[in-house]
Amino acid sequence: MAPRRVQTNGLIAGITLIALGIVGTLVLITAGVGGFGPGSDEEQVWPGTESLGVPWFSHSQTEPADFSSLGEQIYYTGRGEDGRVIPRSEGMMHMNACVDCHGRDARGGTARIMMESFETPSIRWSALAGEDHEGDHPPYDAERFARALREGVDPGGETLDRIMPRWDLTGEEIDALVDYLDGF
Ligand code: HEC
Repeated sequence: MAPRRVQTNGLIAGITLIALGIVGTLVLITAGVGGFGPGSDEEQVWPGTESLGVPWFSHSQTEPADFSSLGEQIYYTGRGEDGRVIPRSEGMMHMNACVDCHGRDARGGTARIMMESFETPSIRWSALAGEDHEGDHPPYDAERFARALREGVDPGGETLDRIMPRWDLTGEEIDALVDYLDGF
């Protein structure tokens, strides 16, 4: 009789462990994929990066929220038409989307990713296309914007820092981003 009871106990212990594993996984998934979308009010930001309003854990590569436009979806997730992951230059920052570096209001600020801290410019369309553009180069238009995004060259012919990824965007995705950035 005794060996049989040991076997049963072992079985119960095994099932309990498996159940704990499943619960643990669910907790992680819920915490990790929770809605960091345009409307959420996540406040766990890295000290010093408050201007971006982006949580310290990035959700760039997930598909969490309902986005109201293709431009907003690209901005928050780095995913474009039909949900494709937009190809971009490799590097430490290649997992991030625009929002992680340029912030929720697209005004730029101090970003801190993978132990690196850097400043990003405002990319609101009013800032990019305005006469009083922060940089010392001519204002952006859609074509110059596409060049900056795809090739990393600004309207003055200067190469953008490598921290800013190069994005292989389609024409439609470029237009969608311009529309989105024009909406702030
Ligand atoms: C990993 C951080 C990071 C990500 C992700 C990122 N950027 Fe940038 N971006 C930068 C930095 C840093 C600069 C400034 C580069 C420089 O001045 O040389 C920049 C510059 C720019 C500029 C040029 C602005 C100017 O004044 O000339 C544009 C436009 C831009 N980003 C748009 C975007 C868009 C749109 C996305 C998403 C598709 C994006 N960025 C994603 C970091 C990032």
